[in-house]
Amino acid sequence: DTAPLPGLPAPPPPGAHALPPGTYNGTVVLVTGGGSGLGKAMAAEFARLGADLVILGRTEERLKAAREELAELGGRVVVAVCDVREPEQVGAAFDLAEREVGLPSVLVNSAAANFPSPAEDLSPNAWRAVVDITLTGTWFTTREFGRRHLAAGTPGSVINVGASYAWTGGPGYAHSAAAKAGVRNLVETLAVEWGPYGIQVNGLVPGLFPHPDMPEAIRSGLEDAAARGELDARQPALRVGEPRELGWAATFLASPYARFISGHTLVVDGANWQRRTVVAAPVTPVREQLGREPFHG
Ligand code: HXC
Repeated sequence: DTAPLPGLPAPPPPGAHALPPGTYNGTVVLVTGGGSGLGKAMAAEFARLGADLVILGRTEERLKAAREELAELGGRVVVAVCDVREPEQVGAAFDLAEREVGLPSVLVNSAAANFPSPAEDLSPNAWRAVVDITLTGTWFTTREFGRRHLAAGTPGSVINVGASYAWTGGPGYAHSAAAKAGVRNLVETLAVEWGPYGIQVNGLVPGLFPHPDMPEAIRSGLEDAAARGELDARQPALRVGEPRELGWAATFLASPYARFISGHTLVVDGANWQRRTVVAAPVTPVREQLGREPFHG
């Protein structure tokens, strides 16, 4: 947890916020993958600050459950069943948003797909599923958002959720790491291309934020490390993140206080990424996870 630290301001109580209450009153925020996990956690922080939400996901029941939870925080919550791989479904979700609450001014691209696999075992379909959801899906929603704002002459803010292995590579995650590298690059390209039209584009990279909706393979790896007492110890900050800490960063990036920040990717990971680059790739855990012994021919 964010424990008190001597000499530094006390950690905020549950539900508290650095931004003034009502910062997002009248603002529509669309979160892909907002029905679960970190997408839902980020959506909650926007809602606490007054935003109306549009949450996209593939599973209707999950979206409805999330709507119950998020609506208690204040604003309106619209749900749209949408596979971001399908541009027609993305267009329909934006149409629904415009009819119900208005064109979203903030887009958080949080939908992603992932599972660990030895690179050489990835089937063409497995590669496509991950790259299509993570990279192409992010592009389809961002394109829809950009086209509508450019046509209307209105400003907007895009946040692409990334991963630090977009820079370092991710052994055991070749598909996801390649897709996240593309997601990060879109930030840099579009911030410049759309900047003159008032559209900000930033990236937000979570470190380790355990949450109940994590994919089974990733969650069980973390639980094993936690059981061995290694999970927090491996983090330079000696702890993992709380999902609300990612939400604080997202609400800052789309706020008026960050209006001059664009084309930037903010890493919220307690320096875990730097530890990995200094200590070298985590060869042993990867080998354990993938069940493959090293050999040299
Ligand atoms: C190997 C797998 C697999 C697995 C799916 N596939 N899961 N291969 N191991 N665990 C293969 C299938 O065999 C199939 O290939 C192809 O992928 C498509 O699978 P489908 O189930 O038909 O596809 P679909 O439902 O479209 O997508 C499945 C999915 C997705 C990609 C697993 O549903 C998903 O990722 N859901 C969880 C969401 C998620 O993980 N979000 C968190 C991202 S975290 P074949 O050849 O058999 O047809 C993140 C940050 C990373 O990205 C940082 C942490 C390290």
